[in-house]
Amino acid sequence: MFITLEGPEGSGKTSQLPPLVEFLRGKGYTVFPTREPGGTSIGEQIRTVLHSLKNAEMNPRTETLLYQAARAQFVEQVVRPRLAAGEIVLSDRYADSTIAYQGYGHQQDLEQVRALVKYATGGQVPDLTLLLDVDVEIGLERGAQRRARGGEWNRLDAYQLEFHQRVRAGYLAMVKQEPERWVVVDAGKKWDEVQSQLRTNILKRLIGI
Ligand code: TMP
Repeated sequence: MFITLEGPEGSGKTSQLPPLVEFLRGKGYTVFPTREPGGTSIGEQIRTVLHSLKNAEMNPRTETLLYQAARAQFVEQVVRPRLAAGEIVLSDRYADSTIAYQGYGHQQDLEQVRALVKYATGGQVPDLTLLLDVDVEIGLERGAQRRARGGEWNRLDAYQLEFHQRVRAGYLAMVKQEPERWVVVDAGKKWDEVQSQLRTNILKRLIGI
């Protein structure tokens, strides 16, 4: 099963993922945790280019294409082989991030962006996508606090409030378009409650109840 975590900035995906992996392993599943952009050596190099504050002049189309380059490698090198081996691939972000950020956020033509994503993924779609949904201002405030504690500050963090509002609206639109694949978890709740919601929803899908 291919499971992805998605969400706007400050949704807490990254801190929720490791305990989720431990929980699923404790239930006897073989889980491969990974993240995008990255997950492969080539992908991590592309991530550095995408996140570097030196690249402030990056055009949105360049940004879109770099994410797809990293993704094509990720699908072939990580996702397909692990799924073929019967593992659960649990990824912190995947193709829906491109639709949300480059499509809705940068307001690029959605049909063109979808076509690029399809090319990069070879049509590999997650079986389950959990949206950690959080109010944009709360999410951005969480991000600011994380950076004040020494967390990573990347080029995309400089995008404005309206950009992030479009990203969140984009995610919610995608949920409406494909409700059978998505589960929305309220990430404004306490960390433990969010973790418990994630566990319940993944188990439900795994054991088919
Ligand atoms: P994060 O997941 O560590 O928050 O950072 C990844 C950043 O990259 C985040 O700002 C969202 C952005 N991103 C895109 O804009 N498009 C994509 O396709 C992916 C995977 C990530």
